[in-house]
Amino acid sequence: MFQIRVEPKGLSFETDGEASLLVSAARAGVVLPSSCRNGTCRTCICRVQRGTAHHLIEWPGLSLEEKREGYILPCVAVADSDLVLEAPAARHSA
Ligand code: FES
Repeated sequence: MFQIRVEPKGLSFETDGEASLLVSAARAGVVLPSSCRNGTCRTCICRVQRGTAHHLIEWPGLSLEEKREGYILPCVAVADSDLVLEAPAARHSA
């Protein structure tokens, strides 16, 4: 299991490294913004501050530059390590 922290609110959840970060967050009651859930709309875009993740699809809707800067689409990304994500719109589910 990997520990995921979501800044700046300091939310946290665990992921098994197989489920997407979006699904893992939801299971723990952490809501990340989302819409399409298939890596195209970019609603869920957030930045990895620490750790590594990879995408489950070959062409997530990110530019090369965004990828270099550490942006991921958590609806189609899984963790490869503990992560610190920057996702200001993340919140606890009601
Ligand atoms: S929810 Fe659409 S790209 Fe992630």
